[in-house]
Parts: sequence; C-alpha cells; structure tokens
Amino acid sequence: MLKPQIAKLLNEQVNAEFFASNIYLQLSAWCENAGLEGSAKFFREHSLEEREHMDKIFDYMAECSLPITIGAIDAPPTEYGNLMDVINAAYQHELKVTAMINNIAKTAFELQDYTTFNFIEWFIAEQHEEEVLFGKILSKAETLDFKGQTGQTLGIMDNFLRMLDQK
Ligand SMILES: [Fe+2]
Repeated sequence: MLKPQIAKLLNEQVNAEFFASNIYLQLSAWCENAGLEGSAKFFREHSLEEREHMDKIFDYMAECSLPITIGAIDAPPTEYGNLMDVINAAYQHELKVTAMINNIAKTAFELQDYTTFNFIEWFIAEQHEEEVLFGKILSKAETLDFKGQTGQTLGIMDNFLRMLDQK
C-alpha cells in the first residue's frame, strides 16, 4: 500500500497531465486558426502524448489500488500574440511539469517508496526529452532570428515544427 502523500501527488499529476493535454490542444487550435498547419499538427500530437502520460499514471494508481479523483481541469489560456508566444507558453509549461515530476521522485525516495521511484524514472527521462525537444525549437528560432513576426521565417518555423520527430 502506497503512502497517502504519494497517492496525493500521483493524483495531482493525473490532473496535471490532463491539463497539459488541454493546453496543447488549445495551442493547436490557435495555430489552426492562424493558418499554421505544421505547428497545429505538432501541438495536436503533443496533446495526445500528454493524454498517454495521464493514462500511464492512472494505470499505475489502479495497479496499486489507489483511489483516483478527476477534479475540475482549469481552462487553458486562449490568447497568444504570435507563434513565439505559443512556443514559449509550451516551454514554460514543460518546466513546471519537470518540477512536479522531480518532486514526486524526491518524495518517493525520501519515503523509501522505491516502487514509485522506479515508476517515476520513466517520466524523468521523458521530461528530459521534452526539454531537449523545446531546446531544439528555441535554438532554431534563435538561429532564424524568429521572434514571432510574419514573413518567410514564420513559414520556416511552421515547417520545422511539422517535421519534428516527437518520439
Ligand atoms: Fe507529460
């Protein structure tokens, strides 16, 4: 039986992954609306990935016979000035998720819950991948001197996001 503190953190993470999925879905919608098909595809795929993260924690909690509560999920922000704002919003969100995952790992370790520690290691690696991915996007933007402006670089960024391998 897992400790209540761990159960609470895992449950919060289920809801956080759900929220993340909705943020990416909203970012995808914003890109669709702005005619940025490549970016829309990228964020739509990412939304599904977050949903899979939620499923993974959901399954682990179910295996451990922990009660799961799906709470009210906050509405993601809808207003963005340009594609660079969208990218930055996604990156900032990933940093928050990394901090949450690290906190679960730290707590599991301190409570000597090595089963959860082992489980959450996959997410630590995953967050590393996410940060590498967004690092690539940010450095591409920097190379192109893309700050969200319209024109040729916007097209290049949109295509870059379309072609990015997220797995
Ligand atoms: Fe995630």
